Amino acid sequence: VVVDRIFSGIQPTGTPHLGNYLGAIQNWVKLQEESSSVLYSIMDMHSLTMPKEPAVLRQNILDTTAAILACGIDPKKCFLFRQSLVPEHAELAWILGCLTNVPRLLRLPQWKMKCASQNNEGTVGLLTYPVLQAADILLYKSTHVPVGEDQVLHLELAQDIAQHFNKKYGEFFPMPKAILSTTKKIKSLRDPAVKMSKSDPQKLAAVNVADSPEEIVLKFRKAVTDFTSEVTYDPASRPGVSNLVSIHAAVTGLSITEVLHQSAGLDTARYKMVVAESVIQKFAPIRNEIKKLQEDKSHLIKVLEDGAEKAKELAAPIYQEIRQLVGF
Ligand code: ADP
Ligand code: NA
Repeated sequence: VVVDRIFSGIQPTGTPHLGNYLGAIQNWVKLQEESSSVLYSIMDMHSLTMPKEPAVLRQNILDTTAAILACGIDPKKCFLFRQSLVPEHAELAWILGCLTNVPRLLRLPQWKMKCASQNNEGTVGLLTYPVLQAADILLYKSTHVPVGEDQVLHLELAQDIAQHFNKKYGEFFPMPKAILSTTKKIKSLRDPAVKMSKSDPQKLAAVNVADSPEEIVLKFRKAVTDFTSEVTYDPASRPGVSNLVSIHAAVTGLSITEVLHQSAGLDTARYKMVVAESVIQKFAPIRNEIKKLQEDKSHLIKVLEDGAEKAKELAAPIYQEIRQLVGF
């Protein structure tokens, strides 16, 4: 009998931005209510694939944890844990790596992009990162994986690896299915042609869930729009103002039409402040909770450790079977 099991991960990059919140975390909060078997992992091993200072990584793990707890992830409703505390992830990645051919990995666009950004001197870890992702998912015999569009190819790789394993060793892994986020991509406030991203070098491009009201106001005041002062929704020809409308709708829970109706008669300068206010209201309780949680480091560490203990209980028997199957 295949039970529904959801697996998803987040890289510890500190506090998330508005795009992460609306595109991923909000969905996680919903999903934890819908299944009794939901795993959310802070992917610290994945973080090592790009250069990181140890102290920064350590702090980011805690900040990310504080942020997602503050956003509503409840360790009583899911398994929230740190990836590196469950070493079976790495062990299974080794086994799955032995079933994955290198050319398949070399073709993945993310590898090409990230390798190019490192003078074409990408590491083995960067190349095999998607194999570790496959292990993250398959270690728990996960059936559903909430992903952004950018991760669809990696999930397909995980499916291929699972199939390859099943063919070689007998039917074992269920095929993990994508749960695609339906949220429209939130765009950079400085350049609505690109998505809001933590790696955007432009200042003021991304709103962080822990930003102060003053920072939020400043970022929206500087948001790029166009030369028309009316508020309309037309992503193709007016990407800047349409992005503001999308954000406004997403944080208030209203439809685009309702938001436009409410904003009739405002010029874009005034409208920016309305959107800023809606974001401030949405994030105020989250920001307070993040601050409170950040003051209790040992609590955060304990949450991740307790979660890892429970994740291990799920993983251990599955991994034992895998060992048997491959001949260890
Ligand atoms: P970033 O681009 O800031 O590095 P990640 O690639 O780590 O973000 O994405 C983490 C999650 O947040 C993914 O599920 C991704 O789809 C979602 N996400 C990231 N940026 C956005 C955005 N601008 N709009 C909507 N969802 C986003
Ligand atoms: Na749950």
